[in-house]
Amino acid sequence: MAYNLLQNKKGIIFGALNDKSIGWKVAERAHEEGARFVLTNAPFAIRLGSIDQLAEQTGSEVIPADVTKIEDLSHLLKRSQEILGGKIDFILHSVGMSPNVRKKRSYDDLDYQYFSQTLDISALSLHKLLQTAKKMDAIADYGSIVALSYIAAQRSFYGYNDMAEAKSLLESIARSFGYIYGRSKHVRVNTVSQSPTLTSAGSGIRGFDGLYDFTNRMSPLGNADANDCADYCVTLFSDLTRKVTMQNLFHDGGFSNMGMSARVMGVYNKLLENIIPDEW
Ligand SMILES: NC(=O)c1ccc[n+]([C@@H]2O[C@H](COP(=O)([O-])OP(=O)(O)OC[C@H]3O[C@@H](n4cnc5c(N)ncnc54)[C@H](O)[C@@H]3O)[C@@H](O)[C@H]2O)c1
Repeated sequence: MAYNLLQNKKGIIFGALNDKSIGWKVAERAHEEGARFVLTNAPFAIRLGSIDQLAEQTGSEVIPADVTKIEDLSHLLKRSQEILGGKIDFILHSVGMSPNVRKKRSYDDLDYQYFSQTLDISALSLHKLLQTAKKMDAIADYGSIVALSYIAAQRSFYGYNDMAEAKSLLESIARSFGYIYGRSKHVRVNTVSQSPTLTSAGSGIRGFDGLYDFTNRMSPLGNADANDCADYCVTLFSDLTRKVTMQNLFHDGGFSNMGMSARVMGVYNKLLENIIPDEW
């Protein structure tokens, strides 16, 4: 159901690679809610993915930008304002990539060149985006910037590797810049800490299927999927959340406040009965 929550709002949406991407679902929901926006992704991802289909579906233009390059970000912000006819009301930063994860380097055997690329793409890029936008005065009063995070920023999760550091840094940048940008221009900056979600980035994580099942059984509401995430992001872009800033907002069906659930305990006890001999 649509509520016209984003009528007259102009946005930029990063990270729609294919129809599984969270960025893709956010674009579809934002379109339903009346927003107009520009879609962006890295040039290689535009070639490999299916963003043109989304652009057609939502009446949007696609502007390539490597999120680590300031000149690409300035061009994106300038062109977006020209295309949309004014300052930007909302931005979704839905970007993450770890070469260490891709190359299957374990956390105690990291390549440090890769590690800096992980941090640059997945976290520093938010700072670069905000700093560039602020210098250009490209965001409207009470504009809303949302970046996507994961609970491995706070707790240790096997297999998440150096993306954990990237997400901690991302959340910290949202707080620090949220203060600076809120004070001077009322611009809001938040991170949404999302459940494991079946996308290209998600399924790159080692042991993802087990993790997905575990968090689903642990959360009283079950995992939040990409469509749920899109609904939540739309509320954060809307005027209904004008005083929400500098927050890391868990969107995970309750997982972050759980210790043990009956559904997980059931599976665990069953395993113990079957594989652990009585004398243990
Ligand atoms: N899938 C999950 O389980 C999950 C859970 C929590 C948070 N997240 C976060 O959600 C966000 C979106 O991920 P997703 O799951 O939709 O996967 P996805 O692979 O569809 O999206 C990641 C996007 O990052 C883009 N990207 C990579 N390098 C880039 C660069 N240099 N410049 C510009 N764009 C670049 C990719 O092209 C891709 O579109 C990421 O920040 C991810 O960490 C995902």
